[in-house]
Amino acid sequence: MSQNLNIDNFVVMDHPLIQHKLTMIRRKECGTKEFREVVNEISMLMAYEVSRDLPLEEVEIETPICKTVQHQLSGKKVAIIPILRAGLGMVDGILSLIPAAKVGHIGMYRDHETLEPVEYFVKMPSDISERTLFVVDPMLATGGSAIAAIDALIKRGADEHSIRFCCLVSAPEGVRKLHEAHPNVKIIAAALDEHLNEASYIVPGLGDAGDRLFGTK
Ligand code: PRP
Ligand code: URA
Repeated sequence: MSQNLNIDNFVVMDHPLIQHKLTMIRRKECGTKEFREVVNEISMLMAYEVSRDLPLEEVEIETPICKTVQHQLSGKKVAIIPILRAGLGMVDGILSLIPAAKVGHIGMYRDHETLEPVEYFVKMPSDISERTLFVVDPMLATGGSAIAAIDALIKRGADEHSIRFCCLVSAPEGVRKLHEAHPNVKIIAAALDEHLNEASYIVPGLGDAGDRLFGTK
C-alpha cells in the first residue's frame, strides 16, 4: 500500500468508498455542510484501520446452538486526541464506533510566516499513559503539528508505541518527517498526495481543512 515511501509503519487506506468520499471533499465547490458530513463518514471508515491492533481476549459464550470460545475487546482503554481545530471534525466518526473512548484536545496552529506549530491548549484524560491514543488531524503537511502534538503527549506520560496518527491527506514530506521523529507511531492516511507547494499546502490536497470545516475564511 505504501511501498512508494518504503515506510513500514505507514498505511494508506485506499478503499474505494474512502477514495470516492475524499474526491467529494477535495472539490472546491464542496460546501461546509457537505465537507463536515463527509469528513465524519471517512473518519468512521478509518476507525477500522486505526483500531486494527486493539487487543482481544477469549470469552466463553453460549450461542443458541452450543457453548463456544470467541473473542472480545480486552478492555484496553482508548482516547481520541484531535489536533484543534480541524481534528475536531474526525472525532464523532471514530466515537460512533468506539463510543466509550475518552477525548483529549491539543490546540495547535501553524504560524503563517514561520510555518512552525504553536501550542495554545492541552487538556488530556489523566490516564493517557494507560491508553491507546488515536491522534487525529485531517492534514499531515510538513509534519510539524503532528510531531509537536505527539511530543506534547509523550511529555505528559504517553507511550510512543501506544500512539496512532490518523489523517485524511498526507504529503510525503510530512510522513517522512513524522516517521523520523516518532518511528513507533503508526501513521494511517486516506491518501498520500504529491508534494507541498511554496506555502506548504498539500498538492492537490483539499485546501485549508480548518477553514473548510468551520466555514471561516
Ligand atoms: C492545519 C492542519 C494541521 C496542520 C498541518 O492546521 O489541520 O494541524 O495545518 O500542517 P503541518 O503538517 O505543516 O503542521 P492549521 O495550522 O491550519 O490550524 P487550524 O486547524 O486551527 O486551522
Ligand atoms: N494545513 C491545511 O489545512 N492544509 C494543507 O494543505 C496544509 C496544512
